[in-house]
Amino acid sequence: IKAEALKALENSDKMEELESFRVKYLGKKGEITGVLKGLGSVAADERKEVGALANEIRAYIEKGLAEKKAAMQEKVLQEKLKKEVIDVTMPGRKSDIGGAHPLTIVRKQLEDIFMGMGFSIAEGPEVELDYYNFEALNIPKNHPSRDTQDTFYINDDVVLRTQTSSVQVRVMEKTKPPIRVISPGRVFRSDAVDATHSPVFHQLEGLVVDKGITMGDLKGTLELFMKKLYGDDVKIRLRPHHFPFTEPSAEVDVSCFVCGGKGCRVCKKEGFIEVLGAGMVHPKVLKECGIDPEIYSGFAFGIGLERIVMRSYNIDDMRLLYENDLRFLKQF
Ligand code: PHE
Repeated sequence: IKAEALKALENSDKMEELESFRVKYLGKKGEITGVLKGLGSVAADERKEVGALANEIRAYIEKGLAEKKAAMQEKVLQEKLKKEVIDVTMPGRKSDIGGAHPLTIVRKQLEDIFMGMGFSIAEGPEVELDYYNFEALNIPKNHPSRDTQDTFYINDDVVLRTQTSSVQVRVMEKTKPPIRVISPGRVFRSDAVDATHSPVFHQLEGLVVDKGITMGDLKGTLELFMKKLYGDDVKIRLRPHHFPFTEPSAEVDVSCFVCGGKGCRVCKKEGFIEVLGAGMVHPKVLKECGIDPEIYSGFAFGIGLERIVMRSYNIDDMRLLYENDLRFLKQF
């Protein structure tokens, strides 16, 4: 029995096997138990010897069993420890942090450039009085140019501003020349969404008022700005235009590359895209804001921020800027 038990013990390597081993030898109907129970039928003179032997074997098996059990538990513990080990030297898993939106990146870039040229930043409300958005800018009620900027009206006197030019009026009202400000911000027009239009977009307004300011200053300022933004080879083009609040007025285009191939269509074939409106502040507007047009003159411009972003990053569909697709946003 001893030899057989020893072999069986060695061969069992699972906890369940150990249990059936225990039952087989030491259980109520186990082999050793059987021998001990049967002592009565053993001849009296051999009884002592057989009993002692059986007890010895039982002790032996119990000891072996306990050792095997302990070894097995230790093995299981070691395996568990090995599996659950934490390598504290491993680099941590990075959580996703957001990045700046391309519109924000470019707005900051523009702010930096203009601040470097001596401009400061002014802000105005997005929900604006009709007076600042239109009337003070020489666009009276029923003026046809209101139709060209499909306005969201809150009521008769309040609109969602259609242009950052409203901030020009707010600044001139409060500040004596010399004035040199920019005002970036969101504007609203009831346009349908397509590749180049959105009902919410961004402008960056510029305003300079001082003695002796001319159209030359306007062109020089814009040219310098575009060079700082896009490099020295960039060209700008002023086309005559009309705005009620500037006279003369111009639309300004910037040269851009037409790179070949798919996904490379910043410009159509002319090689210029329109990025801003500008002009000399209309004397009527200066007067309305309490600035004497006989003494002072000024220029203003309104840059379409989305256009600049598209030109900067070769983006051909404005909708990408608003859809918040991470695959797009993560590129910046
Ligand atoms: N506010 C004009 C627009 O939204 C742009 C502009 C700004 C034109 C300043 C002239 C001067 O189209």
